[in-house]
Amino acid sequence: MDPLMVRTPGGSYEVVVGPGVLAQLPERLAGLGRRGALWLVSDAAVHHAFGEPLEAQLRAAGLAVRSYAVPSGESSKDLAVVSQLYDWLIGGGVERRDTVLALGGGVVGDLAGFAAATVLRGVGLVQLPTTLLAMVDSAVGGKTGVNHPLGKNLIGAFHQPLLTLADTETLATLPPRELRSGWAEVIKHAVIRDAGLFEMLEADARRTTDDRQQAEPSVRSERAAPAVGGRWSVVDAALIRRAVKVKVDVVNVDERETGERMLLNYGHTLGHAVEAAAGYGSLLHGEAVAIGMHLEARLAQLHGLVDAAMVARQRALLEAYGLPTRVPDGMDDEELLALTLRDKKVRAGKVRWALATGIGSAAVRDDVPESLVREALRGAR
Ligand code: NAD
Ligand code: GLY
Repeated sequence: MDPLMVRTPGGSYEVVVGPGVLAQLPERLAGLGRRGALWLVSDAAVHHAFGEPLEAQLRAAGLAVRSYAVPSGESSKDLAVVSQLYDWLIGGGVERRDTVLALGGGVVGDLAGFAAATVLRGVGLVQLPTTLLAMVDSAVGGKTGVNHPLGKNLIGAFHQPLLTLADTETLATLPPRELRSGWAEVIKHAVIRDAGLFEMLEADARRTTDDRQQAEPSVRSERAAPAVGGRWSVVDAALIRRAVKVKVDVVNVDERETGERMLLNYGHTLGHAVEAAAGYGSLLHGEAVAIGMHLEARLAQLHGLVDAAMVARQRALLEAYGLPTRVPDGMDDEELLALTLRDKKVRAGKVRWALATGIGSAAVRDDVPESLVREALRGAR
């Protein structure tokens, strides 16, 4: 599959998506003229599965590489861990011409990306995403950063990578729940900008349901859990590339999130509120975004932007991919409303909503009355 091309004021680079593309790393680094040392950052789970073989492969190609594994999970997106990375990089004699390789999910990409953006005022960065979410979202577009006790992603920098290599074969080991969480972002990209991708996802969901119905009774119960998106197939690489293209196209017109890029926040305003209200870690990000997308589609309907059929169609696809769409029991609407007002997208007290205007299109709106948000929440139990 042909590489996609990011072209922004902050940097231009290829995004390569497909099975086995990690093996191209040595030759692609040479092609980029990167002759300095390589600093491979991953997390504990990823290091063992992919970091060690990659390190061996880079060494075999005659490249100098050191590696560092942080603990897996969101808690590593912390200034204390950035500081440990600085100790490792500076203590090891990092130079401007060197390259940080971020191998892992969005946590590693954001964390190692931020260290690369700031050490020596910036060294080269290559993103090597190994989760679906990182492939279609965080490894493209140059947002890097860590969390602050007062909120997620509040400390960071834009630092475009020199290259993103998304090896879809790495997804084979991703836990099904993490994979499904990534599909939420794929569906989000389809809704905001690519109706054709949405139809491809619907067709994939139908195919999987048919396969499931034809399965022997003995395996049927095992497959009773939503199977779409919970397993991996080579066919999906084309879907992933198409979803990545949405991100690339958006970033190419709005690197710094002054307009179009805000559309990527579809489902995230109420999604973040639900994620925070549930207590971080209890819902996966993509699960919260799926609930947020359903709530925000209802909001768009109440605001006259989409019809009931669109809301139902999006909900059916999210659920076919095993994603939740209902607000969890016991969550208070007023708390969710208060949390949306703390959102980063609030300007002059008004929430800037990224709302769908159909399947394949979206717009930023700051004219949504609070009463409609309440109504959207009330009807989503
Ligand atoms: P993650 O990085 O925590 O990865 C999820 C889990 O999967 C981890 O336990 C990890 O060890 C494991 N894992 C990763 N790859 C694996 C593989 N191939 N096989 C088996 N296990 C594997 O989470 P994530 O969902 O990838 O990323 C979430 C983070 O991304 C959040 O911090 C979010 O803020 C950030 N994010 C950033 C951007 C951006 O533009 N920079 C966009 C979206 C999300
Ligand atoms: N994940 C949202 C963005 O990159 O803008």
